[in-house]
Amino acid sequence: MRKNIVAGNWKMNTTVAEGVALAKEVDTLLKEKSHNCDVVICVPFTHLTSVKDVIDANILGLGAENCSEHESGAYTGEVSAAMVASTGAGYVILGHSERRQYFGENNEQLLAKTKLALANSLKPIFCVGEVLEERENGSYNDVVQAQIEALFELSAEDFAKIIVAYEPVWAIGTGKTATAEQAQDMHAHIRKVIEDKYGKEIADNTSILYGGSCKPTNARELFSKPDVDGGLIGGAALKADSFMGIVEAFD
Ligand code: PGA
Repeated sequence: MRKNIVAGNWKMNTTVAEGVALAKEVDTLLKEKSHNCDVVICVPFTHLTSVKDVIDANILGLGAENCSEHESGAYTGEVSAAMVASTGAGYVILGHSERRQYFGENNEQLLAKTKLALANSLKPIFCVGEVLEERENGSYNDVVQAQIEALFELSAEDFAKIIVAYEPVWAIGTGKTATAEQAQDMHAHIRKVIEDKYGKEIADNTSILYGGSCKPTNARELFSKPDVDGGLIGGAALKADSFMGIVEAFD
């Protein structure tokens, strides 16, 4: 059956020293307390190697927040999937709404990034989600469906390696969480879209995380929904205590 996962997305926060300290703290707390989900931290590229050295890979997964759609070569400033994998990281966030919005990432690029991530044995955490206008005009199911369908060129074997994160853009960093019912409805929709393409077994085995102002105070209710398999956590992942408060929502 599918895994429950809590993944942190540090975004563009912390120096290397601060990031190493935060990762150590999370790693220590995970060793002290029992937990019933996989835990991953996704950190800036600059932090990957140093963070890798201070965490126990058996209890805390490590990921990047993006990778290039190109394999290698003259792309100054870019970081390839192979480079990310060479740090020992096992995950990569792709298609975060901030990448789509501020850096113009489109479906074609995201498919290319996903293929390269998979070719380098990275597990993509593939983000989808509607903006406020789309929530209000009722097109949100179609918008998210189209974002998922952008990956439908993948073989069933490859799609089975994807973790999906539903992050309504209006809920990210705003303090405005989707209700547990809104999250459940969308997660069930996403699972149905996957089932229609890849069949029930793959759909049932796909972890679908919720993201957007997820906190220790609302995580339990969100995670209690049958199709919500964990969270992608931004702001609350920057403090070990609040991140652990979310991890502990799976008891
Ligand atoms: P947030 O961010 O938890 O700060 O809302 C979530 C995300 O963008 O992944």
